[in-house]
Amino acid sequence: MPASAPLFRAIGLGKHYATPVLADVDLDLQAGEVLALTGENGAGKSTLSKIVAGLVQPTTGTMTLGGAPYAPASRTAAERAGVRMVLQELSLVPTLTVAENLLLERLPSRLGFIRRDALRASALKHMAALGLHDIDPDRPVGSLGVGHRQMIEIARSLVGECRLLILDEPTATLTSREIDHLFAQIAELKARGVAIVYISHRLDELQRIADRVMVLRDGRHIDTQPMKSLSHEAIVRRMVGRDVHEAFDRPRRTAGPVALRVRGLARGQAVRDVDLELRRGEVYGLAGLVGSGRTELLRLIYGADREDRGEVYLDAGDVPARIASPMRAVRAGIGLVTEDRKAQGLLLPLSIRINTTLANLEAIARAGWLRTGDEQRAVERLRGALRVRSLGTEQPVGELSGGNQQKVVFARWLHRDCRVLLLDEPTRGVDIGARADIYAEMDKLAAAGKALLMVSSDLRELMMVCDRIGVMSAGRLVATFERGAWTQEALLAAAFSAYAQAA
Ligand SMILES: Nc1ncnc2c1ncn2[C@@H]1O[C@H](COP(=O)(O)OP(=O)(O)OP(=O)(O)O)[C@@H](O)[C@H]1O
Ligand SMILES: [Mg+2]
Repeated sequence: MPASAPLFRAIGLGKHYATPVLADVDLDLQAGEVLALTGENGAGKSTLSKIVAGLVQPTTGTMTLGGAPYAPASRTAAERAGVRMVLQELSLVPTLTVAENLLLERLPSRLGFIRRDALRASALKHMAALGLHDIDPDRPVGSLGVGHRQMIEIARSLVGECRLLILDEPTATLTSREIDHLFAQIAELKARGVAIVYISHRLDELQRIADRVMVLRDGRHIDTQPMKSLSHEAIVRRMVGRDVHEAFDRPRRTAGPVALRVRGLARGQAVRDVDLELRRGEVYGLAGLVGSGRTELLRLIYGADREDRGEVYLDAGDVPARIASPMRAVRAGIGLVTEDRKAQGLLLPLSIRINTTLANLEAIARAGWLRTGDEQRAVERLRGALRVRSLGTEQPVGELSGGNQQKVVFARWLHRDCRVLLLDEPTRGVDIGARADIYAEMDKLAAAGKALLMVSSDLRELMMVCDRIGVMSAGRLVATFERGAWTQEALLAAAFSAYAQAA
């Protein structure tokens, strides 16, 4: 193969479901290059990648790999040819351990018995390459938080021979430390001549690592340019087809009376004696590293986990609310937008309408489903306000793109009138334009006197939308900043503080 011939080539790729979602896309990849793939939610990024990785069969088009025809019939076939993909949705087996998940296809065995020690050692080696020193390889994956599961997912795809690696939003739940490790790995793969396709809505990341950037819009290839030649704005304009103002004009808010008070809340090592006061009409942000206890704190407040000690009070009350289950939380007017939409958020085979109007699983079993005109109109409004890209409100949520699924999770809680809304990475995987829609809806809630508690790994986002930011480090709430009193450096320093002391 001459040096200039592409490692991978696709010509005229297309995919039709009920309607065409990808049409006539050409793609070339050189060995050792990083191609950024970007576009709005539903533009076709995952579909294109899944075709290359053998998970979806194209309706039209042909591909070659290393100059030879390439038409993988399955993910396994693609992996055998050296094409691997880290999926946008996590695909680990929750009941198996970290080590078993990592080495599922190459479990070391002797006479049919899996060699535990060899498995452990091999897993530790692969994890160390990504800087994962603090995870026990014998833990079941289901007991890890989403950020760690994402890192294991990435580590898994780096095990074994690889010529072309596709990463579909690998950093949606990662923070800067993990991202740095991932980027170091990418640089190493690149040096070994692996071609990499990197999908992300975070343009600053793309600018850090990509050689070229390819933009899809409505299933069509808009163009592919050297990364250096395009500004941030130029990329967004190509994605959206118009100018977008990313800056969000946050109106002045005045916080009202206390809506929720947390006193000495604790659970194991994850959450340690947290005190927190949330006021009506405010957006309170929670910053911290992956594993610092932010998600766990929300789950305690929501009654999804049981606390060891501590109380939650509602309004000005001084009698603990005793929220023992999510059902109780919902009844008390507390909602939770989860970060893990597959496992906790959505019923994939059911429609957008049902997923939006459904606040708990019991309701559907109890009453069948009541469909009123009002309800239909409300769902239509939310679908429009959040620009959910779908074929009407009856399309099953499982057929939507990742970012559009996230919008449905959010729409559900907008539909239900909560006085306290807990938001765990609410814009995870949501494109730049649609993020602004979510911020605007959050703003309306705050203006209507609701209290919002938001976890995000995106500091810029927190600084943009929050009135106050609390920082968690190793399970403790170590600092709280008022708007105007924070800087990115101060927030980061606080996030690392408890770990620095421990080391
Ligand atoms: N199994 C399916 N059946 C019907 N339509 C589908 C199916 N899978 C994907 N689609 C549609 O294809 C379009 C492209 O989806 P895709 O997941 O490729 O988008 P994406 O660019 O990855 O978006 P995101 O940024 O939200 O992840 C969407 O409109 C989606 O609803
Ligand atoms: Mg996608």
